Amino acid sequence: MRKTLPGLIALAAAGSLALSACASDRGDTAAEGSTGSSSGSDSGICIPDGSVIGVALPQKTSENWVLAEQLFNDGLTEAGFDPIVQFGNSGVTEQQNQIDSMVEQGAKVIVVGAIDGSQLGTQLESAKDSGATVIAYDRLVKNTEAVDAYIAFDNYQVGVLQGTALLDGLKERKGDGPYNIELIAGSSDDANSTPFFEGAMSVLQPKIDDGTLTVVSGQTTFEQAATQGWKAENAQKRMDTILSGYYSGDVALDGILSPNDTLARAALTAVEQAGKDVPVITGQDSEVESVKSIMAGVQYSTIYKDTRELVQQTIDSIVDLQNCGDIPINDTTQYDNGVKVVPAYLLTPVIVTKANAAEVYANDPTLGPIVAGTE
Ligand code: BGC
Repeated sequence: MRKTLPGLIALAAAGSLALSACASDRGDTAAEGSTGSSSGSDSGICIPDGSVIGVALPQKTSENWVLAEQLFNDGLTEAGFDPIVQFGNSGVTEQQNQIDSMVEQGAKVIVVGAIDGSQLGTQLESAKDSGATVIAYDRLVKNTEAVDAYIAFDNYQVGVLQGTALLDGLKERKGDGPYNIELIAGSSDDANSTPFFEGAMSVLQPKIDDGTLTVVSGQTTFEQAATQGWKAENAQKRMDTILSGYYSGDVALDGILSPNDTLARAALTAVEQAGKDVPVITGQDSEVESVKSIMAGVQYSTIYKDTRELVQQTIDSIVDLQNCGDIPINDTTQYDNGVKVVPAYLLTPVIVTKANAAEVYANDPTLGPIVAGTE
């Protein structure tokens, strides 16, 4: 998953080729009547109309998950399936039990947004034993063979975009450096949190090394920056401690790397309570409150990962299985889950600032009117 910037550029250039190659693969294999992911492990399975499809979502730690629930229910029903869509609100054990029960109810596909990507091996292995296809949705599942495909936005690229936005925002809003910054990472049980952080650090570390950026707290490792459970209160508490410990008097906090919008708003609350100037701060998810904050000139950036696009890609893949085709794949190198490289279909995340918000959200039914000022 570690990539250099030149590597990323090469990957972006290869992306369109991979996509078109994939589209023709899909046509060919569908015509031949073979099935399963590109690993070929599911060949011969054509899931029947009306099949039970289990969708195991994590906790509602950001708006994207809430929207996904509705989209999966509506989209799978419309496609003629029988969806069971559940949140593991109380944690890993609940999610494990939900997956077991989906398998017992005869689910032909299990779509999983893992709470803890390393804790589902047993359940997903029994899903595979029952003949189900397993799709990791948005978050990778780790340390198990029992996953056929991963469908997500490119997580490492999310981090690269966040790191780049932080540097751009500092230059734009805080004048010439050097700058004081702090780093926030996501929850360490979520497999996405490391690529988010590593992508951002691929941009920020050289600037820390050359003295442009100083992490005043000295907390530069993923472990130090992580936010258990993606919980706002944990990020806020950590930021309170950092502010009172390292930013007394007129020491300025110029910028904060935040991995998502929920945590960005929590960090901004801590900064405000400490009486400091608003720092340049990144985010992710295009949550309504954060988009409003961006338009008001407070939060600097977010990331648009259109949940409708991600859910649709997943449902289309299930329909492909129904038609005895393969799950479309456009990446077979990046997502090593510890025991295998999981074939992936990666969508492209988009960075959003006040400057391009109207353009990016033009077709989003919720965000479009907000940025256009008609809501
Ligand atoms: C998702 C992010 C989200 C986070 C917290 C991650 O796995 O990719 O979009 O902000 O979970 O819910």
